[in-house]
Amino acid sequence: MQPMGRLRLGVNIDHVATVRNARGGALPDPLRAALLAEAAGADGITAHLREDRRHIRDQDIEALMAGLSIPLNFECAATDEMQAIALRHKPHAVCLVPEKREERTTEGGLDVAGDENRLAAFVAPLREAGCRVSLFIGHEARQIEASARVGAAVVELHTGRYCDLVADGHLEEAAVELAALQKGSALAHSLGLEVHMGHGLNFETAAEVAAFPEVQELNIGHFLIGEAIFRGLGPAIEEMRRRMDVVRAEMERA
Ligand code: PXP
Repeated sequence: MQPMGRLRLGVNIDHVATVRNARGGALPDPLRAALLAEAAGADGITAHLREDRRHIRDQDIEALMAGLSIPLNFECAATDEMQAIALRHKPHAVCLVPEKREERTTEGGLDVAGDENRLAAFVAPLREAGCRVSLFIGHEARQIEASARVGAAVVELHTGRYCDLVADGHLEEAAVELAALQKGSALAHSLGLEVHMGHGLNFETAAEVAAFPEVQELNIGHFLIGEAIFRGLGPAIEEMRRRMDVVRAEMERA
């Protein structure tokens, strides 16, 4: 199977909720942002319900489930509380991420290899409920292989380190990290896993990972919400969509 084709864009709206919560009250409304993202060409919406509810809240998940016509990717930690919420809503996808209270954002990938039995038992009821389970992991072969064994349908490879290296101007190390992500995508695909990428992506770094033929979805949040301050959310998403499509069109021609 060759998965290259239209690359899906998942828009993460967590930071609309971050801005709302900074003031209290109801604005800006994450659902409104999600609907705007949908109109601008997003293929899915991602929302991370963190244990401390620092941005997305339980009511946001309810509103997104009721109001969206594109798939919701419900991102959460692998805890009993989050599993119960996922099983109640049955979103299209559940993306399991590691979570530490003190971190500012999701810092590393999930240690699937070190927690294989628990995760296999955790994934099973979500699969049975019809959710596509995605594991947010690093590009190491042992994590990818363990993800296939625990029954995940998808792996999302963590692009945060690559994006940080680019941002800090460490371009040689960034190239090494990018090559490792590419190798990881090929391995995951060969094991029958759907491959997504996300964390820290901007126009330039997204274009680099969009060039991996195995990748089927990019999940992007912080950059797009930040860019929305300058050009509006719809235009920011349209520009990301356009750039992703350009990369794929060039690959189809090659
Ligand atoms: N994918 C996953 C699994 C994430 O945890 C996050 C951050 O919440 C993202 C994608 C989006 O990252 P960013 O907001 O840096 O684009």
